[in-house]
Amino acid sequence: MRSSSNNKLIRGGTVVTASETTQADIWVQGESIVAIGNNLTSLFESQAPDGLVMDAEGCYVFPGGIDPHTHMELPFMGTYASDDFETGTRAGLYGGTTTIIDFAIQTQGKSLRDALETWYAKAAGKALGDYAFHVGVTDFNPETRAEIKDIIQKDGISSFKVFMAYKGALMVDDRQILQLMDEAGQYGGAVIAHCENGDMIDERVQKYRSQGKTEPKYHALAHPEIAEAEASGRFIDLAYQGGHPCYIVHLTCEGALNRVREASRRNQTVFTETCIQYLLLDDTLYERPGFEGAQWVFSPPLRKPKDQAALWAGIDQGLIHTVATDHCPFCLEQKRMGEKDFSKIPNGAPGIEHRMELLYSEGVRTGKISLNQFVALTSTQAAKLFGLLPKKGTLSVGADADIVIFDPTEKHTISAKTHHHQCDYSAYEGWQLTGKTRTVLLRGHIAVDRGECFLEPGYGKYLPRAAFHSTDFPSQKFAEKPLMAGANR
Ligand code: URP
Ligand code: ZN
Ligand code: ZN
Repeated sequence: MRSSSNNKLIRGGTVVTASETTQADIWVQGESIVAIGNNLTSLFESQAPDGLVMDAEGCYVFPGGIDPHTHMELPFMGTYASDDFETGTRAGLYGGTTTIIDFAIQTQGKSLRDALETWYAKAAGKALGDYAFHVGVTDFNPETRAEIKDIIQKDGISSFKVFMAYKGALMVDDRQILQLMDEAGQYGGAVIAHCENGDMIDERVQKYRSQGKTEPKYHALAHPEIAEAEASGRFIDLAYQGGHPCYIVHLTCEGALNRVREASRRNQTVFTETCIQYLLLDDTLYERPGFEGAQWVFSPPLRKPKDQAALWAGIDQGLIHTVATDHCPFCLEQKRMGEKDFSKIPNGAPGIEHRMELLYSEGVRTGKISLNQFVALTSTQAAKLFGLLPKKGTLSVGADADIVIFDPTEKHTISAKTHHHQCDYSAYEGWQLTGKTRTVLLRGHIAVDRGECFLEPGYGKYLPRAAFHSTDFPSQKFAEKPLMAGANR
């Protein structure tokens, strides 16, 4: 598949964007898309006779996927996430994800700059895929506040994550969130939040431990739906009172989604992300024998089938904008740190490689979402919100040639034996899917073709981003008018 030419023609595929599905060829020159249209062969042959022709007949052609929530090499709960920027972005490319937005998380007591320098160093020279960062703010104080403007304007980072959970480690209080919203908002930044009530969780954890209840299933019982619903509502209210946009990461349940739905009644648009695991897996996995349930210990935990139904409905209603992974793998040996105490199981699981194939197979093929929604959820809306459009997230002239050729008929089975995550288990072991990524271009270069990766570590580029983009989203059309002037609930 290697070609000496910088030019490529992708011929005969069905080109899918967030709004259109058309039969078209795509002509790529260097790193960019130069033309999209019918019968580009003659143009191509006259201008680039030595170029590479890639046959996409019978395939969909999607924009490269954007996973807006990953944690490569995250130091967490006494260990490190097992994928680094090399192995993690390579696994992503195999599944069609060409860009990630990872989290540079502040250590309490240290600066945001310190976190950013640490994450720049983790990624540089290693990433195969393109990457951007959110900054995780765990300690908002006058010194931190003074760093925000430069991070937005010089580093090109317009989103700041706060944790309303992980008490004693990452959690911040409401006043810190309010102040961060005000500060970031001045320069086009937005606050994004892990919404779970940390005190509620901490109380439950202590109770179960004191009762000698140590198995993985108590992790889920210690993180109830109400803890997520309460914190989601509170976060939404904090944003509303300051007139700020907000984005909830890894939303999992009906209760939290209802808070989002309620906010639309006062014409507030709340942006939300769910993750593929919350759409497809449920909490019965915690009932697996012995310590098996630890594989799905992450926060928030898996929920009930009624929550999965709510999430699919939320997508359909335009209340959920992105489907991410929260990719944060730990090997089984690392999970065993919590064999005698569920609260010591490192929180997280692998997922980046199969996000798009799972959503296609279980979402598009089952009729739950359309092809255009698939593209919106896996790529375009993340690009739009997080300031990566028009270079990333769509197929248009002038955009980066991040292109996925996807065979909708190929069947395959997910297994830790064949996946590319640096993790010795798969959260979806044995799942049989229909639809597979065949070829991936990243900025015009062949990243993956028929199971082989052609990029070297260091090809991936850091992406500075524009301001958080909070207007012009389809969900706004669902907002109801207030019942009376001044009504705010
Ligand atoms: O369990 C999880 N989600 N681990 C990663 C950290 C986070 O909360 O996103
Ligand atoms: Zn989180
Ligand atoms: Zn996360």
